[in-house]
Amino acid sequence: MFRFSKLVYYLALVLFLQIVHAVDYKFYRSSEESSNEYTASDILDDARLDTFSLIRKYGYQCEIHRVYTEDKYILEMHRIPSKSPLAPVVLLQHGLLSSSAEWVLMTPGRGLAYILADAGYDVWMGNARGNTYSHRHVTLKPSSTAYWKFSWHEIGYYDLPAMIDYILKDTGASRLQYIGFSQGTTVFWVLMSTRPEYNDKIVAMQALAPVGYVGNIKSPLIKAIAPFTNSLEVIFKILGTNEILPNGKINELAGQKLCVEEAITQVLCTNLLFLICGFNSEQLNTTMLPVVLGHTPAGASTRQVIHFGQLYKSGKFANFDHGWFANKRIYGTYKPPEYKLQNIRTPVFLHYADNDWLSTPRDVKKLAKGIPTAIGIYRVPLAKFNHLDFVFAINATELIYNRLLNIMAQFKDEP
Ligand SMILES: *[C@@H]1O[C@H](CO)[C@@H](O)[C@H](O)[C@H]1NC(C)=O
Ligand SMILES: *[C@@H]1O[C@H](CO)[C@@H](O)[C@H](O)[C@H]1NC(C)=O
Repeated sequence: MFRFSKLVYYLALVLFLQIVHAVDYKFYRSSEESSNEYTASDILDDARLDTFSLIRKYGYQCEIHRVYTEDKYILEMHRIPSKSPLAPVVLLQHGLLSSSAEWVLMTPGRGLAYILADAGYDVWMGNARGNTYSHRHVTLKPSSTAYWKFSWHEIGYYDLPAMIDYILKDTGASRLQYIGFSQGTTVFWVLMSTRPEYNDKIVAMQALAPVGYVGNIKSPLIKAIAPFTNSLEVIFKILGTNEILPNGKINELAGQKLCVEEAITQVLCTNLLFLICGFNSEQLNTTMLPVVLGHTPAGASTRQVIHFGQLYKSGKFANFDHGWFANKRIYGTYKPPEYKLQNIRTPVFLHYADNDWLSTPRDVKKLAKGIPTAIGIYRVPLAKFNHLDFVFAINATELIYNRLLNIMAQFKDEP
């Protein structure tokens, strides 16, 4: 069993490495002539440029902001500022193993951050501790195990409030609109249920592929891990105690040659994503695959994945399970307490899709029942729409973003 699980996890990575030497570099060179406005060299550039440089490349302003959390992690935020001083403020929070890049990879007119900026918003993009951009701490080194002792609970409990307070202070706004994707919604539920006073700082929340309950999840990675979550030691042995899937060599290779249209290896790229979240959509723009994989996975702690595995197993939306005795010491109970969704008071809009393996319709409906202020629940009107489509789909604008903007516009004048 251990070996099988390990296999599932490493399969795509190993395949990548083995095939690298067999790839003919000329594959992508030949595509250079056939380009129109988005050229082959754009693909290679965009796969490797960081969020800041990407945004600047496409003619938008970008700022980098450094935020310190209460427990001394150092986070990097990216902002596309608005020319108007009274622009409504929006915070975008990315999903598991991802980063702020997720909102801009698809280029202007397609990436949600650009669409919001074009619509007059002051756009802020968060980065959770441990990812490519937020890889620092005042005293702990990312090479130490102590640095990685967090799950998405800490991202919700420490990172989010630090980012929200920073934005409100910097802009002078009293509240902001929030958009989360996947884990970017999970951390929101954590914050609003553990520190309810933060409800007052949010105008409205848009949840793309909401993740709270995951009992009906179909993700191969999470499912493979779930059986071992009772024994943390075993699972740490399988996955390592620290970082999981950091941005590095694989992304570099993927961004350079393995995933471009003409490469015979492109199928491996789609399968890497498949392992993480399921993948069988016509909404994937394969031209952009090298760019997506140049930036994703962007690193996370092993505990984030384990915590999701625990939720899958328990069917509850609960705190991290440290094991009986540690739970008793930390929480005062043998089982980890459930998050109090009933504390959520800010208007919440949930957007889900039928073919989403991580945020399944059944789990979303269960979540909606638990949130007193879940005002809108919207199904994406396309049966094959999947998890990553929420940020990367060819037709995301017509299928989701237009509605999102309409809902948000109704709150635009609120202070
Ligand atoms: C895929 O993305 C490229 C670059 O943004 C774009 O030029 C092309 O039209 C997209 N393809 C589809 C089918 O949308
Ligand atoms: C996606 O957009 C293309 C062109 O922009 C259009 O032809 C196609 O019908 C759209 N598909 C869906 C499912 O909306």
